[in-house]
Amino acid sequence: MPDESSHSELVSAPAAKPFKSSRGVPRRIGVLTGGGDAPGMNAAIRSIVRSAGAVNIEVYGIRRGFEGLIYGNFEPLPSRAVANVIQRGGTILETSRSPHFRSQEGRARAAENLRYRGVEAIIMIGGDGTLAGAIEFEREARIPIMFIPASIDNDVPGTDYAIGFDTAVNTALEAIDRIRDTAFAGERLFFIEVMGRDSGFIALAVAIGGGAEAVILPETKCDMDDLCRRIEESQSRGKRSSLIVVSEGPRTGGAFAIAEEVRARVGMPARVVVLGHIQRGGAPTARDRLTASRMGAAAVRALVKHRSSCVIGEHKTDLIYVPFADAMDRRPKIDPDWARLVQTLSV
Ligand code: F6P
Repeated sequence: MPDESSHSELVSAPAAKPFKSSRGVPRRIGVLTGGGDAPGMNAAIRSIVRSAGAVNIEVYGIRRGFEGLIYGNFEPLPSRAVANVIQRGGTILETSRSPHFRSQEGRARAAENLRYRGVEAIIMIGGDGTLAGAIEFEREARIPIMFIPASIDNDVPGTDYAIGFDTAVNTALEAIDRIRDTAFAGERLFFIEVMGRDSGFIALAVAIGGGAEAVILPETKCDMDDLCRRIEESQSRGKRSSLIVVSEGPRTGGAFAIAEEVRARVGMPARVVVLGHIQRGGAPTARDRLTASRMGAAAVRALVKHRSSCVIGEHKTDLIYVPFADAMDRRPKIDPDWARLVQTLSV
């Protein structure tokens, strides 16, 4: 929650005029990170600051996501402020899931703060919730916004890839490899819960990469009969240890509930490991540093070319500008072939 000192920074400027820069190119831009942090966010911030500096655009960091926008937590980000951050997980600007930004009043205050500080455009970095907030805000405040997708869940509309996914998958895989050692040694069945409340991208990738017996995703209903049959069959084929990957959240019921049901039906005890927020931290992989650096530069380039209201999307290996209006129709979808591959490879 915002503290009182940050409340006192609230500015009340009455007239809601559109944002305009005298030379067309913004002289001062803001950058914020919203929602769940993702490894690679710092690399994106660094790229924005350095790319903007190269064309004489001043950058302000807005702390704590939309909350900082409302409560005026702004600070100049000179080039040196982003030294030594490219390898760090989390976000140096901090982040939040802001209930206040959902209200029209909160967004109006945010727009006033930006006008008062002469910030003429914003680059927002975050997941689908932050994107929804960005679209709403751009419509009301008429400020140029560019959006960089970053979410370990990889479920941001308008792009095939979101910063942080690769790191999270590799972190989860490292843990799963360790669990595999002990599962094999003790001839045990393990249920491993990974993040992704509404999206099974992490679960699917780690199930394939970790050689899991089965994967349970939020997008598809779990067939318990089939799961139990597969576990029994693999036992009768001589398999003594198995890993089953489960996406967290109410749609799957979570790993504990599924393990309990398997125990009740098959009579087989199982161990449960919840990887949780471990998947969100840590140094970004090369893939995430590279994508974040490219996307940050592309966002600044767009603003210089008077382009805004777009998601920086990755399509194949290209970066593309996807207008907010089209982004919502481009939601990344789970490939059913990947789900089938888990089964094919787990004989
Ligand atoms: O950022 C995405 C995510 O990590 C989801 O996978 C997860 O369900 C959620 O955030 C957890 O959010 P919080 O850290 O706010 O509990």
